[in-house]
Amino acid sequence: MTILDIKNASKSFGDLQTVCDVSLDLAEGERVALLGHNGAGKTTLMRMALGLTPVTSGRIRVLGAPPGSRKARAAIGFLPESVAFHGALTGREQLHHFARLKSIKTGVADDLLERVGLTAAMHRKIRTYSKGMRQRIGLAQALLGPPRLALLDEPTSGLDPISRHEFYDIVDDLAKNGTAVLLSSHALTELETRTDRIAIMSKGRLLANDSLSALRTTARLPIKIDVRATADTAARLAKNLGGQRINGCTVSLEVQQEEKVSLLGRITGLGELVKDIDVTPASLEALYRHYSVPDQEEK
Ligand SMILES: Nc1ncnc2c1ncn2[C@@H]1O[C@H](COP(=O)(O)OP(=O)(O)OP(=O)(O)O)[C@@H](O)[C@H]1O
Ligand SMILES: [Mg+2]
Repeated sequence: MTILDIKNASKSFGDLQTVCDVSLDLAEGERVALLGHNGAGKTTLMRMALGLTPVTSGRIRVLGAPPGSRKARAAIGFLPESVAFHGALTGREQLHHFARLKSIKTGVADDLLERVGLTAAMHRKIRTYSKGMRQRIGLAQALLGPPRLALLDEPTSGLDPISRHEFYDIVDDLAKNGTAVLLSSHALTELETRTDRIAIMSKGRLLANDSLSALRTTARLPIKIDVRATADTAARLAKNLGGQRINGCTVSLEVQQEEKVSLLGRITGLGELVKDIDVTPASLEALYRHYSVPDQEEK
């Protein structure tokens, strides 16, 4: 079932077109990462889905309803880019306040505080919270409901590595229960394994929108194979396989997907000469560069 349906959406602020003809949809339980440089239009796209700013042209529907309608608003949990709270309230008071606004039982809010790891600090005033703790309160309020659609704008900024990991566990749970999750991020490495689809925006346009493996196939970026020998045998190995010798005893090769298996066969056929093999597909960072600067790639 389609939860978020964006069709040819554009947004202009005066002469400046910040979102250009973007079509993107999210099904129930899908986790989609929205990537793009600063000013690419990610936040604007989310704000349009929220009904905070109207589309200039095109159409957006949330559960079939227009953005900003009662049905759409009730379905969405939103974590804004910069979260601002009432510093004089405790974390618990703030979340209870949000829960009451959404007519949700306050007990649910307490469970969420635990889920985001704030139980110990929930009676402290928010003004004493660290950046990451404020981010967690923001996340907890976005999860109240739970929402059918979670729009999370740079949700992991300010979170330490363990907290980021825990955050993606929460996203996984949400998605398993059917929530569609659209999250923007500049932290590419953590997204590789934690999202179903990658959408890349540049200068307002959506330049890619597919699973990581499909993006890899289309981009045809080489796969790196590092073969380790010993200092004595590396020269023979390099002669046999071609490729570049690095660090004295490693030979580095680059191949396309369709050549990978046969090359690996040749390498393992070298028997004792080979001590270890590392196979590294194109990273999301390399793919991001490939898709977000197409002009450069074509030169
Ligand atoms: N209210 C506004 N009035 C005028 N221009 C705006 C407005 N809101 C956004 N813009 C412009 O729209 C463009 C896209 O901004 P947006 O905030 O959507 O980018 P972003 O992809 O979220 O960037 P970042 O990664 O820095 O958060 C920018 O050029 C920005 O200056
Ligand atoms: Mg933004």
